[in-house]
Amino acid sequence: MSENDLISSLASESRSFAPSAEFSRQANAQPEIYAHAAANPEAFWAEQAHALTWHKPFTKTLDWSDAPFAKWFDDGELNVAYNCLDRHVENGLGERVALFFEGEPGDTQVFTYATLTEAVKRAANVLADLGVTAGDRVAIYLPMIPEAIISMLAVARIGAIHSVVFGGFSADSLATRIQDAEAKLVITADGGYRKGKASALKPAVDEALSGNACPSVQHVLVVQRTGQSVEWFETTDIWWHEAMNKASSEHTAQAFAAENPLFILYTSGTTGKPKGILHTSGGYLTQAAFTHRNIFDLKPETDIYWCTADVGWITGHSYVAYGPLANGATQVIYEGTPDAPHPGRWWEIIQKYGVTILYTAPTAIRSFMKLGRQIPDAFDLSTLRVLGSVGEPINPEAWMWYRDVIGGGSAPIVDTWWQTETGAIMISPLPGITHTKPGSAQVPMSGIAADVVDDHGHSVANGHGGYLVISEPWPSMLRGIWRDPERFNETYWSRFHGQYFAGDGAKKDADGDIWLLGRVDDVMNVSGHRLSTTEIESALVSHHWVAEAAVVGARDELTGQAVVAFVILRQDEIADAGSDADISKILRDHVAKEIGPIAKPRQIMVVAELPKTRSGKIMRRLLRDVAEDRPIGDVTTLADSSVMNIISGKIAAGAND
Ligand code: PRX
Repeated sequence: MSENDLISSLASESRSFAPSAEFSRQANAQPEIYAHAAANPEAFWAEQAHALTWHKPFTKTLDWSDAPFAKWFDDGELNVAYNCLDRHVENGLGERVALFFEGEPGDTQVFTYATLTEAVKRAANVLADLGVTAGDRVAIYLPMIPEAIISMLAVARIGAIHSVVFGGFSADSLATRIQDAEAKLVITADGGYRKGKASALKPAVDEALSGNACPSVQHVLVVQRTGQSVEWFETTDIWWHEAMNKASSEHTAQAFAAENPLFILYTSGTTGKPKGILHTSGGYLTQAAFTHRNIFDLKPETDIYWCTADVGWITGHSYVAYGPLANGATQVIYEGTPDAPHPGRWWEIIQKYGVTILYTAPTAIRSFMKLGRQIPDAFDLSTLRVLGSVGEPINPEAWMWYRDVIGGGSAPIVDTWWQTETGAIMISPLPGITHTKPGSAQVPMSGIAADVVDDHGHSVANGHGGYLVISEPWPSMLRGIWRDPERFNETYWSRFHGQYFAGDGAKKDADGDIWLLGRVDDVMNVSGHRLSTTEIESALVSHHWVAEAAVVGARDELTGQAVVAFVILRQDEIADAGSDADISKILRDHVAKEIGPIAKPRQIMVVAELPKTRSGKIMRRLLRDVAEDRPIGDVTTLADSSVMNIISGKIAAGAND
């Protein structure tokens, strides 16, 4: 949806839905929470931090003297894994289920807090035996299986730093991330199940490490998930199950400083190089746990929570691994795709486990909507009592469908805005308080200072749009970009003095509620995943056929945005390359190989020229007009205004894929 479409659709959006009196009465968060937090935000966060167990209590809450590098609870010490595991067992909750794992083929595993704690202790011993110590980096490249969570917690337990790389990324993307973080160990699997098939993972690790491309890596721990045959390198490779069987199940969690790094998670920025977003321990866990308890109204004794995100993304870190486990929740994790082996698989899982809280992405909701309500209607979804949305603006139609068809017309929807950088949810309704509006994230969380500002950084009045900023530090904020403090300053803190600039456009409606309008930079959002235009352009020009490439995010009904690429080919190289359609297929596959299938362009348009300003900057706005099949906008700043006629003429003639 273009910004203008969105703004006009907002203008007509006046519906709001109050929570039922019964829900409000029992809700964890009551209306006083806002005033209580606003009276003294630091004291409020200190109070929330006390929900964790500290080996050494903190005496200072926030140190912002070296802004924008924050320190929260700096002199406190804790162990993140202990907080997610051991303390629940010590509190007599060892028999409570922590994870219901549902494999795509239908195999299942159940971990209680006691058995999950034992597995993490063993894994911590395995890591220690392999020489991994506090501060070392461990890359995790796994499917959505229990070992992914066990690995993350084991790394955290010994004070090391994990860098989870989504299993859909290519060998090259994996190698870049391993190199940047100088990971000592890689944890992977032979493969995982996706779309009804065993899909290999280990070969990508082998390729990433080949030719000593990643000299920091000493070992590769391999989980056996599918049993498919793998190439084996005696000097580096170790089977996970063999190491786990040999390892002791005794392990005492040591205390680490609150600011001890917990993980790096790479995300796309506006340049070709992904940014290693760094998060630390005490503040991150405080906000992840607090938001999880209050935004989803978690009742750990009775709720069955399911967040459909993969651990390869920030949502899988904060709302699968850390928030829910710190809160002692019982959750479902699912390995596969929503349509395997049948399109009702998700609803079947909800029925089977009696899921009460579902947290998913608008793109998934839209794809279910397209298939029709008869599919979810065939299952009992009456246990659902809170629904969450994340990753991109949710269009009001999808929001209403989610509410009516999945939530039975009564479960509150929390549309949660946040980012890899923010670590935890920042803007969201609270389900027992907020009168929710379809399509809006609405309210900054208690203790969070978010605002919409104009070009000069001044707060806009209600009814106006601008840029989303966060004006005060928050506990789970990123502590920097791995080994690149300058980029951290430049990317987030230079646009508006003293305020964190999120890169999103937003608007305040007449009630002051916040509506997110999408990215204002060269970052695309495809199915809730961030992709950089520059990164895909670099992938395209790395193919010997391509002389120049420009990539834009075009509106897409299903995925929110889709990648559309315009390429100029080298005439000398493509003499026998075939038709535009053949070329397009090969280049799309090339991008999938370079970055990963998620980055594959929906369309590649072969053009003779690209629209540029006199200073040589590509005018993506005009290409977006072509990609979205709209009349071309203002071309007066183009160096050669006839270029757009040629491009749009060729596209209209259907000469492209
Ligand atoms: O543009 C916003 C969009 O996703 C971006 C953050 O992407 P990522 O770091 O990958 O994290 C996604 C999961 C937290 C934001 O800058 N975004 C995320 N949630 C929403 C959203 N846009 C609108 N509404 C949301 N609820």
